[in-house]
Amino acid sequence: MSYNVIKHEHDVVIVGAGGAGLRATLGMATAGLSTACVTKVFPTRSHTVAAQGGMSAALGNMGPDDWKWHMYDTIKGSDWLGDQDAIEYMCREAIPAVIELEHYGVPFSRTDDGKIYQRPFGGMTTNYGEGTAQRTCAAADRTGHAILHTLYQQSLKHNAEFYIEYFATDLIMDEDGVCRGVMAWDLATGDLHEFRGHMVVLATGGCGRTYFSATSAHTCTGDGNAMVLRAGLPLQDMEFVQFHPTGIYGAGVLITEGVRGEGGYLTNSEGERFMERYAPNAKDLASRDVVSRSMTQEINEGRGVGPDKDHIFLNLMHLGPEVINERLPGISESAKVFAGVDVGKDPIPVIPTVHYNMGGIPTNYNGEVVTLWEGNPDQVVPGLMAIGEAACVSVHGANRLGSNSLLDIVVFGRAAALRAKEVVTPGAPHKKLPEEATSKLIDRLDRVRNSSGSTGAAQIRDRMQRCMQARAAVFRTGETMAAGVEELNEIVAEWDDIGVADKSMIWNTDLVETLELENLLCQAQTVIEGANVRTESRGGHAREDYPDRNDDEWMKHTLAWVKDGKVNFDYRPVHMNTLTDEVDSFPPKKRVY
Ligand code: FUM
Repeated sequence: MSYNVIKHEHDVVIVGAGGAGLRATLGMATAGLSTACVTKVFPTRSHTVAAQGGMSAALGNMGPDDWKWHMYDTIKGSDWLGDQDAIEYMCREAIPAVIELEHYGVPFSRTDDGKIYQRPFGGMTTNYGEGTAQRTCAAADRTGHAILHTLYQQSLKHNAEFYIEYFATDLIMDEDGVCRGVMAWDLATGDLHEFRGHMVVLATGGCGRTYFSATSAHTCTGDGNAMVLRAGLPLQDMEFVQFHPTGIYGAGVLITEGVRGEGGYLTNSEGERFMERYAPNAKDLASRDVVSRSMTQEINEGRGVGPDKDHIFLNLMHLGPEVINERLPGISESAKVFAGVDVGKDPIPVIPTVHYNMGGIPTNYNGEVVTLWEGNPDQVVPGLMAIGEAACVSVHGANRLGSNSLLDIVVFGRAAALRAKEVVTPGAPHKKLPEEATSKLIDRLDRVRNSSGSTGAAQIRDRMQRCMQARAAVFRTGETMAAGVEELNEIVAEWDDIGVADKSMIWNTDLVETLELENLLCQAQTVIEGANVRTESRGGHAREDYPDRNDDEWMKHTLAWVKDGKVNFDYRPVHMNTLTDEVDSFPPKKRVY
């Protein structure tokens, strides 16, 4: 079958229009680069819209704060797997980045004297662990929504070109390993588009939908990560998956950590505030991995709530209507719709729910994709950047602190734009490529589209999600994961019998879901196999058979390649160095809250 391929040439092409993609789009457009933003969903429907609690930055509006305290908290939160140079960059740049957002028009909540309102979040302290920092800049409990709309409007104002509801299928790589562009399918017309760019920026989000119960939108299928794997490049630290403590039981919908920041607390079936036992200082505001494990332990030991004793209560009845209406209006609505709960009267039933991928496409703090090449662990892949949840900078290491995600997308979207301005010459001609560079990508799409087996994407996806949920959960053991690896391999093998019922190229959601499933399967393999291989516990990766962190053997980033359905691993060192001499690095120590 021949396809109508429409060709475009831009200086830069951003794939994805969440907060990271839009911040990069805006920065690159204002830098005078011809900027295309290609996005699977309408920009303001990107998953950033669901981010609730806020964005961290040591503004010190509510009390003393310092970006170096923020840096320490982030390194400790990462369980010392985060790269300290990148973390220094993020925490320092947080301050100008949030002020810029304010100037772009983000409607932050305000203090009585008109400053940006900041709330406490888990793991955020003052003075290197002593007090509680109020560091999370909030627009009520709809901060992501506010940021996303502002960045989209600013990007339109600065003449970025949007290609909306285009599904990016593959990177266009040349024979020297340089990224030259991206192929995308226009869902509305059925045409294929070849986007050439001197820089391609993947801002395609995480792959939460490898799991059955996730706060992530159904569109969070890690499409950029899978494109990178197909291009023969690795993903980093994929075994580190964050479970958010408070997803609504049975629905998976997020209830922001901001609830606990505003004074909400968790109780078990005995009405006990059990976090006091697990984290005597931080209590309900310990970091997410700690709280999720504590909740799971309570449930496992028979102190869960509900008829099946399989969840926990989140109490905010005592906060009163003023705090709830002003600071938490969105979650009150979610609790009513998804749990039938009036938060002024009853607790919300919650359970740890898959929320975030700490792993992703390895990059440096400029957003440039790096790979291990001929012994160099930091080799830049020319023409390719990754930002946001798709990337692993690595600023979150083994566990991300709440509200460092909106920060990450804004800081590194901005950093990518600053770097692109340095390395891309506006209007430079594009290298001519052999036809094969794109024809093989079209052939792949064509093969999937014309597959005529008897198994539908929904069946395979359901099996994959249930396998991941059961086998790569909050607590893991070698036994369950080895069984999970075997089961997942069988599920991956079912791909050979995949069938796409509808062969049309126009609004073919069956084909979209099949392509997304192909993307999810290879990422699921990197998660569970990486977790099985890492014989220690660190951050979000908690093994019952290896309960301790093992810095001697495992203070290193995992790199995972997938070739012919098989995962191969190598490792690169954690950057323990700082970026400047304004701050010393923080040596590893035991992590207690
Ligand atoms: O709980 C929340 O509001 C989520 C924030 C985050 O993941 O950073």
